[in-house]
Amino acid sequence: MDKNKKLQELNNTMHALCACTLKETATHVVPGKGNADAQIMFIGEAPGAKEDSLGEPFVGAAGKFLSELLATIDLKREDIYITNVVKYRPPNNRDPLPEEVSDCWLWLQEQVKLIDPILIVPLGRHALERFVPKKRISADHGKAFRRTVDGLGERVYYALYHPAAALYNGGLRQTLFDDFARIPKIIAQIEKERK
Ligand code: URA
Repeated sequence: MDKNKKLQELNNTMHALCACTLKETATHVVPGKGNADAQIMFIGEAPGAKEDSLGEPFVGAAGKFLSELLATIDLKREDIYITNVVKYRPPNNRDPLPEEVSDCWLWLQEQVKLIDPILIVPLGRHALERFVPKKRISADHGKAFRRTVDGLGERVYYALYHPAAALYNGGLRQTLFDDFARIPKIIAQIEKERK
């Protein structure tokens, strides 16, 4: 079976099985979107209002900025896979609770295992904490970490500010452009090390 089809089946199954209580208040599940054969997987925090109404990740203002950032390194949404740590919108866009993150964790693990990207980009502190704990986004953005995460083997994680952060703090816009510009070099380095 084609990988995109497998991913769709995985998302359907996990939605049925997921015990996350945010399911009760969300309008739509937001499993993720993009290419199952992607080299890079971006992982945000949780769906917001627009994502909840459309069932797709990063379709609001932060998503528009993310597309702009991707274009600077010649990538389109179709080239990557994008999802969130939590697959249902928390009420009033509050931070996801630890139990909501852990209830959605098996789903995210299975997505990573199936897509098997060579680089994972956690966007913002919630996603970073799940994969590379005890880091500070303000100090560690723009840094790559090689880490073994339970069930996922050893992988490379590249910490970035969440694009929404730049909508509130304009000073972070340039930081995100600069950090994004390093992605092609990081990918090239990972590919070289794999040969
Ligand atoms: N912010 C996120 O973390 N995820 C989305 O899907 C949208 C905004």
